[in-house]
Amino acid sequence: MTKCALISGRGMGMMHGGNFHNHPDAEVVAVCEMNPDLLEKAKEHFGVPGYLTIQELLDNCDAELVLLIVNETRRIPPLRELLEAGQNVFTEKPLCGLQGQATVRESDLAIAAPAIAKWRDSNQKFGIDFNYRFMHHFKKLHDDVVNGTLGEIKMLHARAHFNCWSHIIDQILWNLGTPEWVSVTGDPNEGGGWQRLIHIGWENGVVGTLTGTNLWGYDDHPLRVKILGDKSYAEAKGLDGSYLRRKAGNSEIEEKWENEPGKPEMPESFKRMADGVINAMQSDQPFPADGEAAWAELLFEAAVHRSALQNGARVYLDDVDRAAFV
Ligand SMILES: NC(=O)c1ccc[n+]([C@@H]2O[C@H](COP(=O)([O-])OP(=O)(O)OC[C@H]3O[C@@H](n4cnc5c(N)ncnc54)[C@H](O)[C@@H]3O)[C@@H](O)[C@H]2O)c1
Repeated sequence: MTKCALISGRGMGMMHGGNFHNHPDAEVVAVCEMNPDLLEKAKEHFGVPGYLTIQELLDNCDAELVLLIVNETRRIPPLRELLEAGQNVFTEKPLCGLQGQATVRESDLAIAAPAIAKWRDSNQKFGIDFNYRFMHHFKKLHDDVVNGTLGEIKMLHARAHFNCWSHIIDQILWNLGTPEWVSVTGDPNEGGGWQRLIHIGWENGVVGTLTGTNLWGYDDHPLRVKILGDKSYAEAKGLDGSYLRRKAGNSEIEEKWENEPGKPEMPESFKRMADGVINAMQSDQPFPADGEAAWAELLFEAAVHRSALQNGARVYLDDVDRAAFV
């Protein structure tokens, strides 16, 4: 049984806490919440002791895994406190965004860097909730890339509503690895979810585009990822989820399906992620999306921000990575 401590008595936290608590090999043994009313409710819900501060939690509880489900605007200080105390940590995405999840800036990368450095220097487990990896249609696209079903990958075409922004970036990096450079049209000074058109290049010659805006709402699915290889090309899209693979060149349909209606993938993906985290704890493996995945996603966003501020200049991710640790 993996003993978990939950930090947060709010919606997302209670949802994750419930998924881990309901897992046959895990249980929530303590909660921590700075809001006294929410703390009382969370204590009652799980029937466990509760604490107002992380320090009190650490002093009184022997959990092996901490679920840190707080917002990206205030994630890094508690994350550092937990890592410095030797804890294994599972958290939400993106790793850091002081202005919110759709407006990550290069300065957010510098804020997160010491936490990543601390984790890399430890034997602790740390991971982030890129739960879309556990949706059937996105998993299928990933398998097709990895197994060579699409042939040699040549191009990527992706777009997303900002509600899905960190996830679409994770999907791109999970499938194709960290790119070499980005070149971005858009104005971060627009504020809010500034519209962006991102050109992406990988060292092996693969190129891609990612566009982000909220203007198209959820009309034709809030996110879509299309990957084109020299044998076939495939697209996974939406949150309910569908998958379509066609033959390169002539567009003949090779495989087409939608996830089961009435069985939404989103809630299931959170449960599958919890299962993946607990399995990783028990088999001493990295979490399904570990600190490197969290860092890679933030690094991409920091490079996007820098390129947009420099009028679309080609920005190399290695340069941005180095600058974050200075
Ligand atoms: N993976 C997904 O698909 C998905 C979907 C929705 C939201 N999210 C992410 O989930 C996160 C949700 O965070 P939120 O907005 O609920 O967080 P929040 O900052 O509101 O914190 C949640 C609760 O934790 C408490 N808290 C925060 N910091 C604390 C501390 N240091 N000590 C004790 N208590 C503390 C707060 O009082 C609050 O009640 C966001 O990062 C969001 O991006 C992910």
